[in-house]
Amino acid sequence: KILILDFGSQVTQLIARRVRELSVYCEIHPFNHIPEIGDDVKGVIFSGSPCSVREEDSPRVDMSLFRGKLPLLGICYGAQLLAHTAGGEVFNSGHREYGRAKMTKVQSSELWEGVSEDSQVWMSHGDTIMSVPENFEIIGSTDSVKVAAFKIKDESTYGIQFHPEVTHSLEGKDMLKNFVVGICGCSQDWTSDSFVDSTVANLKEKLGNDKVVLGLSGGVDSSVAAVLIHKAIGKNLYCIFVDNGLLRKNEFEEVLESYKNLGLNVKGVDAKEQFYTALAGLSDPEAKRKAIGKTFIDVFDQEAHLIEDVKWLGQGTIYPDVIESVSVKGPSATIKSHHNVGGLPDYMKLKVVEPLNTLFKDEVRLVGKTLGIDPNILGRHPFPGPGLAIRILGDITPEKVDVLQNVDAIFIGKLKEKGLYDQVWQAGAILLPIQSVGVMGDERTYEKVVALRAVTSVDGMTADWCHLPYEFLAEVSNDIINKVKGVNRVVYDISSKPPATIEWE
Ligand code: XMP
Repeated sequence: KILILDFGSQVTQLIARRVRELSVYCEIHPFNHIPEIGDDVKGVIFSGSPCSVREEDSPRVDMSLFRGKLPLLGICYGAQLLAHTAGGEVFNSGHREYGRAKMTKVQSSELWEGVSEDSQVWMSHGDTIMSVPENFEIIGSTDSVKVAAFKIKDESTYGIQFHPEVTHSLEGKDMLKNFVVGICGCSQDWTSDSFVDSTVANLKEKLGNDKVVLGLSGGVDSSVAAVLIHKAIGKNLYCIFVDNGLLRKNEFEEVLESYKNLGLNVKGVDAKEQFYTALAGLSDPEAKRKAIGKTFIDVFDQEAHLIEDVKWLGQGTIYPDVIESVSVKGPSATIKSHHNVGGLPDYMKLKVVEPLNTLFKDEVRLVGKTLGIDPNILGRHPFPGPGLAIRILGDITPEKVDVLQNVDAIFIGKLKEKGLYDQVWQAGAILLPIQSVGVMGDERTYEKVVALRAVTSVDGMTADWCHLPYEFLAEVSNDIINKVKGVNRVVYDISSKPPATIEWE
């Protein structure tokens, strides 16, 4: 595998993405939490950083751990650090160099195998390497950066000032391939099949005859995690799927059925009343979230206790949830972690097993496909844990849930019917806490307003409203008003995130 040391760059995850796309396994670790380096580590990549090596307190590592021992590639800050610690000069370049540049090969190099003489690369740096020690060979330059790429003599140590991991570096992936495959000698055999085989073997060994309880949500991650664990331990996996009364129309029955088809041992728990009682009279979004979270824990805990001798809690945590990114503010770099432990209380005293915690979302989908999971489950839009409760502005009643479920089902159904579902990252309807005047036949109406929301996004952090065809919106609007009693107006949300968010609460 390849070890990526994170110095805090925004794009460190992209380095991992690119290496994984080459079917080579890699892990990201913070520069100040270096794991033990075993024989399985074939090479190391230093990431970029928003810091400057000229600052006293900028992130450092002990170079003797790596240099000359393993192939090493420094990217941007990583390259500057290599130069700086070897006695080279790194200056502020006066202006930030950002964007497209043309890199010319100055010397042939294994890193440049199959790369054009002039290659478009992407720069993003404030500092620049002005001079390098004698044993550094400059292998690439751009118009404004003489030391755009170097190799240290008699070592497999390389530094590049630009970012090969971003797609604007047109041959960046070839360069990374030259490093991880050509120079480090990694074999390109990390596939979802091999992942399934090795993970199932590991789970068997780790779990033995122990019992595992896992909460299914109907989403991609928990479903794939469940099927993987089930493959390893079969009937010792106990799945719980809670109907909180805030799911989409018919979702509980449909999802339960598809889980049963997968051979999972699933208990569906109808806790609708418990959730509605906990939510009664609550209008504040955070209060609603808290009530739902607490009720879920109560229900889950009660069910888990019915399973004798259960030792483990299975979870669908994925890699972006656990990557410890480095906080580079302040003199002592601290680690910020995003452990998505689902908020279960300590008193449950269960050990946690998270078989997907090294995978990215699209890799989870690939593994799910390998496992034969229904494409309808794998391709589902994200859906918030608190469900329709945060799409009904104001307090929650079963009647409002019913209205919103019907509206949502028409909207999502039409998206699927017209082949638009997969082009949208997430879609849903929101029930507004207002009424508006309308006219139906000769009668004046005074009824509910619903908003439709559909967004495009990559990771939900930023999003744009989806430019759905007018004809499509017209059809959906007509259908909703004609079929859902109590709704006389439909509006479409045309706000992006930021400044709005995807959900309304
Ligand atoms: P926002 O509204 O913050 O949503 O733009 C970003 C993504 O997160 C989902 N979301 C939630 N998911 N519990 C969840 O499990 C929540 O409380 C919650 N709030 C928002 C939202 O659906 C979108 O995918």
